[in-house]
Amino acid sequence: MKLAIGNDHAGVEMKKEIKEYLESKGYEVIDVGTNSTESFHYPISGYKVAKMVVNKEADAGILICGTGVGISLAANKVKGIRACVCSDPYTAKLSRLHNNTNIIAFGARVIGIETAKMIVDEWLAAEYEGGERHRLRLAMISEIEETQHLKAAEEE
Ligand code: RB5
Repeated sequence: MKLAIGNDHAGVEMKKEIKEYLESKGYEVIDVGTNSTESFHYPISGYKVAKMVVNKEADAGILICGTGVGISLAANKVKGIRACVCSDPYTAKLSRLHNNTNIIAFGARVIGIETAKMIVDEWLAAEYEGGERHRLRLAMISEIEETQHLKAAEEE
């Protein structure tokens, strides 16, 4: 499995540790940077990882900034991306099972490295459950993305 990883200045150290951790487990990890602790605009890394995922140059993506918020917001603007920022392994796992997330994000200023490793482990081990309930809801998210409308909301 090929993973893309990206971060801003706040996430450099955690990114290096997570990258090494994943490589030690046999994953191929493509690092889009940054590798500098100079102030860095997180949308750049969020966008690069997101494009690699939608273009199928990577199977999934991992994003790290101070909180995980900005970088996941940027990634979610790329069509086809379902990025989830989380601070706990349960949310990470469920985001895969129910929401079929293709990017996981977390904050290097929010969680410690061991929690980050657990998040990544749970997320990578989980598989989308599928089924009509989840398919319909994910289709609604795509409808909003495509049309800026949601028919089901007008019918409520
Ligand atoms: C950088 O100071 C910080 O804003 C960034 O790492 C991230 O937390 C944004 O969401």
